Amino acid sequence: MSGIIVEPVNASQPDLGAVLSNIDLDNLSDAGFKVLRDALYTHNVICLKGQSKLTPQAQAELTRRFDPEAMSYGHGKTIDAKRSILHPDLKTIPHQPEVQVIGNGFVAEYEGLKNITLRHPHHRTFHKTVIPDDQDLDHTRFYRWHIDAALYGKLHPPLVTSLLAVKVPGGRTQTLLYDDGSNDTLQVPLGTTAFVSGYTMFDRLSPEQKEFVLTSKIEYAPHPYVWISTAKSRPDGLGMVSEGKEVPLQSLPPIENSADIQILPMVWQNPVTGRFALQIHPSVVRKIHLRDGRVIDDLAEVREIVHSLQRPGIAPDLVYAHDWQEGDLVLFNNHGVLHSVVGAFAEDEVRLFRQCNLAASRPPIGPGSEVLVN
Ligand SMILES: [Fe+2]
Repeated sequence: MSGIIVEPVNASQPDLGAVLSNIDLDNLSDAGFKVLRDALYTHNVICLKGQSKLTPQAQAELTRRFDPEAMSYGHGKTIDAKRSILHPDLKTIPHQPEVQVIGNGFVAEYEGLKNITLRHPHHRTFHKTVIPDDQDLDHTRFYRWHIDAALYGKLHPPLVTSLLAVKVPGGRTQTLLYDDGSNDTLQVPLGTTAFVSGYTMFDRLSPEQKEFVLTSKIEYAPHPYVWISTAKSRPDGLGMVSEGKEVPLQSLPPIENSADIQILPMVWQNPVTGRFALQIHPSVVRKIHLRDGRVIDDLAEVREIVHSLQRPGIAPDLVYAHDWQEGDLVLFNNHGVLHSVVGAFAEDEVRLFRQCNLAASRPPIGPGSEVLVN
């Protein structure tokens, strides 16, 4: 017996969030790891408390244990592209390049990084409309709902992402505004990471929508994070507004191989429970490939379709907003949830997190694939 205790955060939503205790990561047997993996694929976001001492190497090794054949960081070298929207937010640990430092404020020295200034992404840099300055301390938005994935080239979306809270500024709350005409709001801890279940998102679709998402595929843009670097997001962080501001294809880095453009199933299957998740990265969708071979390539239409499928799944009562404490190690099923940065920090509020994920050794499991549920 491993003795590991798994407690769902919210009994009414057991597929989104659990706390694991009585776990020794330094001596995690294969049986213990199986408990951890089953918990991850059942609850999709799991938190292990009191892991401040976890080294970057141990974090990378634990993350790799979910996918032993995986090697490089989930975005490979693509975050180095200066025009990428991801570039300013991630600092690579020199001695453990699969592990990135993210956060806010000035840090004199950490794991070989010196005099770094971290910047918690603020919606004003990404959304088309913004919360007025005089309301900005108390109000916030979902910055960008996403899957951690390069979505271009040979890099498969990572199976699992780990996030370790090293330094967390203390605890006010903010009111999150959807600002999409719905009047939806959500009370959130400062700097939360928000998660929604792709499985619930799928389950709540109509029978016609389910048929559509089970039989259609999404084509992602080439060099997706450069492509949208000049465009703006919807206020709910769930995809972009369509006003023709994307970087023109001819101004992107060259597409060396047309097979580098990723066309992925809309629905990805859970390897343990067998459930289907609606898993689409809404910001960087470009086309929809239909079952009969037709392609929807009107970008505004593609985005409207994707938004109408996903928006019910981010309703306030379906969001798990993790209340970070120092030492929290959160692991999430990146093939089964969407997540978003939330919150606005003052410049002197120092926050330091470590993030690790690895480009997967296999593509996502689409519907109709041969699945070994284990
Ligand atoms: Fe992320």
